Amino acid sequence: MSALTREELARSGSLEELYGKLDRIGLGPGWNKPTPSLWTSPRKTFQPAHWAYELARGALDAAGRLINTELAERRNLILFNPAEGNTYGTVRTIVAAYQMIMPGEWARAHRHTPNALRLILDAEPGTYTVVDGLNIAMEPGDVLLTPNWSTHGHGNASKACAYWLDFLDAPLVQLLEPMFFEPHEEEDQSHEAFDEDPPTKDSPFVFTLAETAQRLDAAEATPAGPFGTAIELGGPALDTVGLHMMRLAPGVRTEAHQSTANNIYAIVRGSGVTDVDGTRFAWRRGDVIAAPAWRPHFHEAADDALVFRVTDEPVLQKLGFYRINS
Ligand SMILES: [Fe+2]
Repeated sequence: MSALTREELARSGSLEELYGKLDRIGLGPGWNKPTPSLWTSPRKTFQPAHWAYELARGALDAAGRLINTELAERRNLILFNPAEGNTYGTVRTIVAAYQMIMPGEWARAHRHTPNALRLILDAEPGTYTVVDGLNIAMEPGDVLLTPNWSTHGHGNASKACAYWLDFLDAPLVQLLEPMFFEPHEEEDQSHEAFDEDPPTKDSPFVFTLAETAQRLDAAEATPAGPFGTAIELGGPALDTVGLHMMRLAPGVRTEAHQSTANNIYAIVRGSGVTDVDGTRFAWRRGDVIAAPAWRPHFHEAADDALVFRVTDEPVLQKLGFYRINS
């Protein structure tokens, strides 16, 4: 194929001829695109969705027999959104996963640029996460942070399997491309010492359920607000992810909320229903609901419920893209 010259391009006698030549020099006519680049409002590409802890737990128990943590970096199940073509993100920017480690296991330490956090669902005393060398106890309802590039591994010195929900901004990092990952060198020796150490909760990387419940008791009650009565954990807890604990009063319907941010709701306690853009999802402890960007949604609790909200609001706010439809 011979190179085109400026003169040859300038002499194009028809649009057809010009399009053929443009293609050869890596240009496309902006006035003749097959699909638009701009649209009037968010397209709601990601779908409302619900995942049941009960089912995930059954699957994790099978994986416990079939996959050991020597073979897998983590024994987890990804809550991928049923959006067409998607195999990873729970919403556009955040992925959630159910994870389990068995008694006596150690999920080896590593670090990565994606920010991560976990909500503990079921764990006996003796379950812990080591964050940058500190052994932090994990108890149900606790939220543990492992920010960008912090080294973290998980251990279970209890006699019961431990289950939790992971949340990572990995889909966002994949999009922006600053992805780095590194296994921790001294993985085999490092965790054994921590099995002996008394675990602590005195760390900025953990929000305990006890502390969160106290803060909710003291918070201004707004049961019919979009998130019930709610407090923020951190401010925001991670650069890219905001965390909030919501208390929903029985029988109260929250105000519908529609924003450009993505929201994932994980149930800490209670049962109820969340309506996401017309689809109703009944939920109970450990379940997860995805309310992707621009999907109006509201909640109704059947009993006194605690719901953990994970959102990319900080990203949208920092970039000037956060909008609420009210
Ligand atoms: Fe990790």
